[in-house]
Amino acid sequence: MAGKITFTIIKPSAVKNGYTGPILAKIHEAGFKIIALKYMHLSLKQIQDFYKIHNGKAFYEKLVEYMSSGPVVLAILEKDNAVEEYRKLLGSTDPGSADEGTLRKLFGTGLPMNGLHGSDSDENAIIESDYFFSKLERFHY
Ligand code: CMP
Repeated sequence: MAGKITFTIIKPSAVKNGYTGPILAKIHEAGFKIIALKYMHLSLKQIQDFYKIHNGKAFYEKLVEYMSSGPVVLAILEKDNAVEEYRKLLGSTDPGSADEGTLRKLFGTGLPMNGLHGSDSDENAIIESDYFFSKLERFHY
């Protein structure tokens, strides 16, 4: 059975451009409940932990530099089949090839500056949510 949560990051370029409010509105309009939310300026260690699967790839250094360039907004989103539904809302990793109306098309500017992260599996949604949020920081309403 598909999971009910996914994890997202509004990345530094999107925060700097003032897109936090418009992005959260689109997430709400698409039927997701925001059950946890916070601003953080991620440490190098947190970024390296989070993106360890990409360590060694050609774009890794640029990705780490980008993610440490400013504050981000972290959130846990709830909806039936959350991971797949949110990946549809996000669009392709590269904003240049993302469909019209998707969040990365609207709020991303390229690679690695694609504006948003979304979990790629139910298992990672749980791992990523647990890394950044305690149970006390989650609100079911
Ligand atoms: P995200 O969904 O956070 O997962 C890994 C990130 O690496 C991705 O979004 C992009 O920000 C970045 N990324 C993925 N592929 C490339 C690429 N080919 N060149 C530069 N950055 C990339």
